Amino acid sequence: MKNKKALSLDLENIMPLLVGIWRRFHKLNGPQETLQTREFRSVVAGVQALQKGLESGDALVGTDYFANPEWLGAYLLYQWVVHYQQGMSLINEIPVAPQRVLDIGSGPGAFAFAALRHGAQEVIATDISLRALTLASEVCGRYGMPLSIRQWNCLRPPLPEKGEFDLITIGHCLTELFPSTSRNWVEHQNNYIAMLLEKLTPNGFLLLAESSLPEANKRLLSLRDHLVRAGVPVQAPCVWKGDCPALKTPNSPCYAQREFEKPYIVKEIQRAAQINLSSLKMSYLILKSPKAAWPALPKSSLFRIISPPVDTYQGKRYYLCGTEGKKSLGSHLKVHPPESRAFEFVRRGELISLENALVKDGAIDIVEGTKLVVEAACGKPLPEAIPKDPWDA
Ligand SMILES: C[S@@+](CC[C@H](N)C(=O)[O-])C[C@H]1O[C@@H](n2cnc3c(N)ncnc32)[C@H](O)[C@@H]1O
Repeated sequence: MKNKKALSLDLENIMPLLVGIWRRFHKLNGPQETLQTREFRSVVAGVQALQKGLESGDALVGTDYFANPEWLGAYLLYQWVVHYQQGMSLINEIPVAPQRVLDIGSGPGAFAFAALRHGAQEVIATDISLRALTLASEVCGRYGMPLSIRQWNCLRPPLPEKGEFDLITIGHCLTELFPSTSRNWVEHQNNYIAMLLEKLTPNGFLLLAESSLPEANKRLLSLRDHLVRAGVPVQAPCVWKGDCPALKTPNSPCYAQREFEKPYIVKEIQRAAQINLSSLKMSYLILKSPKAAWPALPKSSLFRIISPPVDTYQGKRYYLCGTEGKKSLGSHLKVHPPESRAFEFVRRGELISLENALVKDGAIDIVEGTKLVVEAACGKPLPEAIPKDPWDA
């Protein structure tokens, strides 16, 4: 696989554009770089209401919250920026840039915008809220990228567009579409996802992103188990093909963590709204078309780092989930030679390989002669095996 070029988030240009759109939306005049005190307070109140109603609680689930212009505007200046960065990192894990993309429950279009920035030729954003879609289209248009929008209650098939998609994205919608208080929600959700998988091109992907909070995380991991058992291959984050080990241990979520670039306004909103989020944390799943195979890995043994470093009496350890299931990784060395020095820098989300390590039950330890290689950094696609030359046989 060719190395994907790192794409800048370009928040220096995007943030003033969002503030400008926010002002036009509210029919207000003022600078593009900052918000005035009263404006800022109303944005913070909106962000807090949405966090409380959709993430830490569920009072807004099932309501038309984007009909409230204050909340839609606030979403554009905060949640949008967070979800856009998630979309940029996650779409980058897809090995080939998708051309035709369907974004379901797009809202003001954070994932759709990320898909366009990744070079998609046609992105169709769908949502029940036309008001939110209109903002999505304005953000993309003013950035110079055309977005198609379709107002659609996505629980009412058929899809509003014919044909197959290289990528379907659903960002932060599953709890709203299938509340865990509704009857047979698991079955409805699983059938819905199966229907979407059928709409992918044979090399297509379905990207699901949710919050890292326990309930959303468990929902996604359980969905992953259901789909894997039904034969659906996973592109990321799992290289383990069995049942999810995280679901077997109580209170042991498995979610991703990425760097979070915070423009000034986002930092200020977080401070005022008392949101303590220093990195992007999210649950995600990138599934392949059921017609495709699991990714062909270049090495038989690979591990995803699934925790931050944990201090134990044996020193710093990480949890890993890999081709051999869940393990922990530590080191017997005080000073690492070049071949295992990466242990000092590894991060949650990276994919690593280990050679000549000391393996005892579920514990792996670095010793003299162990080689640790970061095979895929955070937000980078899996390395794939180079197909064998048929003349080599
Ligand atoms: C939390 S927002 C997520 C928006 C966007 N995907 C993001 O990540 O920022 C959930 C979205 O789902 C939409 N939604 C809820 N129920 C829907 C339905 N039945 N059909 C289509 N969209 C729906 C809402 O209007 C809202 O835009």
